[in-house]
Amino acid sequence: MQKGPRGGKEIYNRRRKELLNKLQGGVAIIPSGQELIRNNDVHYPFRQDSCFYYLTGFIEPESVVILDPSSPNPFTMFVRERDPSREIWDGFRYGIEGAGEYFGPNKVYPISEFHTRLPEIVKNAEKIFYKIGENKEYDQSIFEAMEKARRLKGRSGIGVAALVDVKQIIGEMRLFKTPEEIELLRKATEISAHGHIAAMKVCKPGMFEYEIEAEVEREFRRRGADRLGYTSIVGSGANATVLHYISNSDKMEKDQLLLIDAGAEFGYVTGDITRTFPVNGKFSASQKKFYEAVLTVQKDCINFVKPGGKLPDIHAHAIEGLTDAMVELGLLKGKRKELIESRAFFKYYPHGTSHWLGMDVHDAGLYSLNGEPRKLEKNMCFTVEPGLYVSESDTEAPAEYRGMGVRIEDDVVVTEKGCEVLTKLAPKEISELEGFIGKSV
Ligand code: GLY
Ligand code: MN
Ligand code: MN
Repeated sequence: MQKGPRGGKEIYNRRRKELLNKLQGGVAIIPSGQELIRNNDVHYPFRQDSCFYYLTGFIEPESVVILDPSSPNPFTMFVRERDPSREIWDGFRYGIEGAGEYFGPNKVYPISEFHTRLPEIVKNAEKIFYKIGENKEYDQSIFEAMEKARRLKGRSGIGVAALVDVKQIIGEMRLFKTPEEIELLRKATEISAHGHIAAMKVCKPGMFEYEIEAEVEREFRRRGADRLGYTSIVGSGANATVLHYISNSDKMEKDQLLLIDAGAEFGYVTGDITRTFPVNGKFSASQKKFYEAVLTVQKDCINFVKPGGKLPDIHAHAIEGLTDAMVELGLLKGKRKELIESRAFFKYYPHGTSHWLGMDVHDAGLYSLNGEPRKLEKNMCFTVEPGLYVSESDTEAPAEYRGMGVRIEDDVVVTEKGCEVLTKLAPKEISELEGFIGKSV
């Protein structure tokens, strides 16, 4: 087993230094993710909390990081002690010595001492940087320690320290991707694209959605993905109009479209790709018209990405193009301006066009600054994912489009003059798709 954090200690050291510089007068308390029970004594697979991982590269649960810029020991870790009897069942743990040796803290303590050491940690802090509400036990300990620290100040009239959401601060750091992070994103999105291609190749009428799900995920793992970035959506026919359809349980019929929204996680960053294509490999005339409308808008939106642009402007662009398409397809009647002002378009396009992408599929980072949508800057990464969805029961829609759903989603990173499309390997042109579908043998 390769020991220590992925990519080497230096990356995490740099991130901690940057955060320490933003913590003046305060101390950050950042717990790891928690192991969660699925049912009885079965746990969900553990995946480290993104902010905790970002600062440490340490992947064990039951750990806490303390960052205190005013201390001679600014980086402290609390970790599980080694336990041979547990390690037989759960595998290797670093323990106190290993964490100290491989992860670079100034001090390491057993996690069992966290609650008793906490009052000392928060004693002189004017601000506590912490994520409230994710772990009730830690919330309570921290509140109690803050109150204890206030009481120790006697009748000074000084109140408890201020609580500041550390995720917002780390989120702003995570929003701007470093060259190493962009390299990981390239890898995660490349694996993700290969998963979609694999699905296209095997897809045939009569297969079940879960067989396609299995194919996508097999390809992800085969190519070294650590896990999924989120639960795969594999929806055929009208299931494609259900935005978070994850049961993936239906049989696919020859005249249906299939929507796959799936992304591989690699090195703690994820891809997020959606492709939609005909189950039988050939777009019908109606499917083609519907699909082309979304594709044109999606490509226009990508061309619109550049430094200085704004996500709401890209979304507005998508809404305009899709509203025109809705009129063209006979889904709506009226003038673009009025259909947008009355939000009539929302019936067929009920979601946003973009979200930040990185360690979390809906990644950290502010969307507005001082109440204004923020400007795009180089090295920000996000999705472009317009769609069009017509409910099966929509008797106002032309019959040929009822139960049709199309979304096309790519991942982009902002460059000097425009953007790099990280997911370009995944086919989306009609001619390319028709060349791939069902062509595994
Ligand atoms: N896969 C989740 C999303 O596209 O936002
Ligand atoms: Mn997305
Ligand atoms: Mn998606």
